[in-house]
Amino acid sequence: MCGIIGIISSKEVSSRIVNSLKKLEYRGYDSAGIATLVDGNINEVKCEGRVDVLEKDISKFNLKGDIGIGHVRWATHGKPSKINAHPHSSEQVSVVHNGIIENSTILKKILEKKGYVFKSQTDTEVIAHLVTDYLKKNSIKNTIIKVLKKLHGSFALGIIFKDQNDLMVGAKRGSPLAVGYGPNENYIGSDSYALKSMTNKISYLEDGEFCILKKDQIEFFDTDGSHINKKVMNLSKNEIDYDKGHYKYFMEKEIDEQPSTINDCINEYIDKYNNQVNIFNFPWKSSSIRSVMLIGCGTAFHSCLIAKYWMEQSTNLDVNIDIASEFRYRKVRFKKDCLYIFVSQSGETADTYAALDLCKKNKMKTCAVVNVVESSIARNADLVLPIHCGQEIGVASTKAFMGQMLVLYILSLKVSFDQKSITKKEYKYKLKNLLKLSNSAKKTLNVDQKILNIAKVFAEAKGSMFLGRGYSFPIALEGALKLKELAYVHAEGYPAGEMKHGPLALIENGMPVVVLAPRDEHYKKTISNMQEVIARGAKVLLITNKNKDEITSENIWEKIEVDNLDEDLIPFLMTIPLQKLAFYSALKKGYDIDKPRNLAKSVTVE
Ligand code: AGP
Ligand code: GLU
Repeated sequence: MCGIIGIISSKEVSSRIVNSLKKLEYRGYDSAGIATLVDGNINEVKCEGRVDVLEKDISKFNLKGDIGIGHVRWATHGKPSKINAHPHSSEQVSVVHNGIIENSTILKKILEKKGYVFKSQTDTEVIAHLVTDYLKKNSIKNTIIKVLKKLHGSFALGIIFKDQNDLMVGAKRGSPLAVGYGPNENYIGSDSYALKSMTNKISYLEDGEFCILKKDQIEFFDTDGSHINKKVMNLSKNEIDYDKGHYKYFMEKEIDEQPSTINDCINEYIDKYNNQVNIFNFPWKSSSIRSVMLIGCGTAFHSCLIAKYWMEQSTNLDVNIDIASEFRYRKVRFKKDCLYIFVSQSGETADTYAALDLCKKNKMKTCAVVNVVESSIARNADLVLPIHCGQEIGVASTKAFMGQMLVLYILSLKVSFDQKSITKKEYKYKLKNLLKLSNSAKKTLNVDQKILNIAKVFAEAKGSMFLGRGYSFPIALEGALKLKELAYVHAEGYPAGEMKHGPLALIENGMPVVVLAPRDEHYKKTISNMQEVIARGAKVLLITNKNKDEITSENIWEKIEVDNLDEDLIPFLMTIPLQKLAFYSALKKGYDIDKPRNLAKSVTVE
């Protein structure tokens, strides 16, 4: 969500700022802007819409300057427009901001009374005027300390100052900010991906910290202005090179990568030689854990939901789940014997991070299942279980969902074995079976021709339903979410058994319905629910696993069969056709597949 870049150098920066903004586009945004310092003056170029437009405008203005900040905005306060785009400047400073200033209305009133004039409707503009006001009587460092204390809410900030041609400030609370070290130049960025073309040496600011960058030096400070030292991380080559290859869309590539990301993840967590789970850094005795609380948002929440089914099935744990934005505000009774697991691709989702923070403050056991290992969530949890699927750029999460499910499945096997809730034989059998998953996933990818035709119907329908029971229910939710976010059509995921308690009223002639009915203990019941929707005119796409018993209904519109693996692994396979369904539906409608409207990859505001 939204993104910041700042470069302080002795060479011109505007084209590099634009390139980095392009790298941040995947996070989702609606307007863009840049400010540079030229001869002690701040020059701004801003636009509504894409970075490409900004790039053209910059070339018209011939924007010079060796120090500058850039921003892609995802509007929270004030509509997406040129005037509301960042940076926001006063006579003294220019500011880029990610996050929300919760007390901006009151601060604005105070500043207006002092004579400051506001041009935009954003919460951010108060920061520019507040800094200007404090600068009248304070040094830059003291100004920042005082201003940060005045701000409520969340922020990552980049600030440049008129007449200060070798100085930039970065600050963080709630929203992420990376700091990069270059040759006689330094950088700030919302994530390391934005900085990768310039450096592989990165540090991360923690909440409450700020930094003062010069070309050849970076100083870090805590909330009160005391100096702190920062660890410098070296990004690996893999983390630096990630592009679309021969694909037109990242999402398409990321779906196709799944067999190999499954393999990579299994290689990390399964010791094939001894046929056992390889999570040796588990810091607690398994006997000290009686319950689990899984927390995430969106797709990550769906992986929590399926993990609940797996864990309840194979362990003795009491398993609960929650959506992070709900959990963080509930009056939670914290339990010492509970393991709190936070699932997040980006590791920066504001609500998930806040939920983790709450657990940490209450001294709970915390575990992060993340993709970005340098992220805030990963850095703050007691135990980190990376999903090892490589960078995910498409806003719609695909391979990361697969990786989250896989890590949670492996964790549930480990706990069930440690707690002796499954036998050694069952444990070894399940681990052996897991090694078949990648190959079956590869076969499942070959559904494009079929899905292409099916997608035409889903893309044009007024709405659609996705139904499943047991392990298939979370996958139904995920299939519906993918279709909504990419093809902008209404889609509902439902437990198949709930249909007759209300949603059945929506079924009308020709309505497309996905029925997920693997041959598990729910099979017959789900097939009955399928008949009920067919009887009311639904066009059913049935997804099941191959089996010698043919399904008898003649009225099934389309059928996709995945490999006949064990029932707890079928959800992985059924996910793939649903990802492709959303992809082809969006393609059919000509929508922006990697950057769907209104959405962001990294949701760093509440
Ligand atoms: C996935 O397709 C969505 N765009 C979204 O629901 C996402 O999963 C959610 O915002 C959580 O993100 P995270 O995994 O980075 O925490
Ligand atoms: N709240 C700010 C605005 O609406 C920042 C939004 C963002 O993080 O992009 O301008």
